[in-house]
Amino acid sequence: MRALFWCPWPNADEWLALLRQKGPELEFLISSEIDAPETIEAAIVWQPPSGLLERLSGLRCILVLGAGVDHLLAPGMRLPDVPLVRIVDPVMAERMASWVLAAVLFGHRQLDVYVRQQRERSWRRHAARDTADVRVGVLGLGAMGSACASRLAQVGYRVAGWSRTPKALAGIEGFTGSETWPSFLARSDFLICLLPLTPETRGILNARTFAALPEGAFVINAGRGGHLIESDLLSALDDDHLAGAVLDVFEEEPLPAQHPLWAHPKVLITPHIASITNPETGAEQIIAAMRAIRRGEMPPNTVDRRHHY
Ligand SMILES: NC(=O)c1ccc[n+]([C@@H]2O[C@H](COP(=O)([O-])OP(=O)(O)OC[C@H]3O[C@@H](n4cnc5c(N)ncnc54)[C@H](OP(=O)(O)O)[C@@H]3O)[C@@H](O)[C@H]2O)c1
Repeated sequence: MRALFWCPWPNADEWLALLRQKGPELEFLISSEIDAPETIEAAIVWQPPSGLLERLSGLRCILVLGAGVDHLLAPGMRLPDVPLVRIVDPVMAERMASWVLAAVLFGHRQLDVYVRQQRERSWRRHAARDTADVRVGVLGLGAMGSACASRLAQVGYRVAGWSRTPKALAGIEGFTGSETWPSFLARSDFLICLLPLTPETRGILNARTFAALPEGAFVINAGRGGHLIESDLLSALDDDHLAGAVLDVFEEEPLPAQHPLWAHPKVLITPHIASITNPETGAEQIIAAMRAIRRGEMPPNTVDRRHHY
């Protein structure tokens, strides 16, 4: 089986070497090496240019080098109608869980306030709520969201989760359906977005959502930049309804140097590092998916295109 490998990341060479090492019977080519596009049966990609995959007339599967497929299902991408497989990796879920826990602790224990005070050499104490009194709401209870919700519950937070279909997770209060949306928000001191970016979820972190959160709530986004209306967040922070935000993903990445989020005193920014794909385990999954396709089987973690995730 021949595969096109398209990866814009600085560690693309590491990925390619791992794929070749773990799948010695398979052939991996970068786009400039492809002489006969119709012989390519698999495309291993991240953010390929529009039109690249269309030219591969013999394509049997698209294997994404990460967890999210929104960049491939975006309007105008013209994706061939073949199985689209993403990486679902416990190593990535663990990475996300530690980032989310750090973000919640940052807000809960007011480290943002103390960082600001330290700059002013100011010794002022503030009361902090006990962990068991802090209510966290996790949007999305999939591979990432369920791991994060469970970790937060283990630590002692009062955790609820929001999903499209009902979920039964130990220690997590489940919310589903638009009629429960206001009560889910009203009980979320911390709102964490780990939804996939779809036509239904785009812009879900907006002024109406923020207004329905308790006074002094924190917003944490590690889903996609398209979930957040950045100007609505800035307004909700500036009028003191929200206490802070921790953001890992942005509508435009890298976040432009002049963007107001950079300098906002209530915002902590990380450069899309919450859960970077692990090349070692990711390459193993891609090879397993290619072998499944060759056997005529549907690989695990094939995206349901009707739901865009
Ligand atoms: N920042 C980073 O470094 C990083 C790294 C990896 C992933 N991500 C992002 O993290 C997000 C989650 O990834 P994942 O792998 O956990 O996704 P996933 O396994 O597909 O889970 C998605 C969850 O969202 C729920 N959902 C989808 N549409 C919904 C809707 N309209 N209303 C309510 N719930 C909805 C799903 O409900 P059901 O359970 O009912 O299907 C599911 O629980 C994605 O945006 C991904 O791109 C970010």
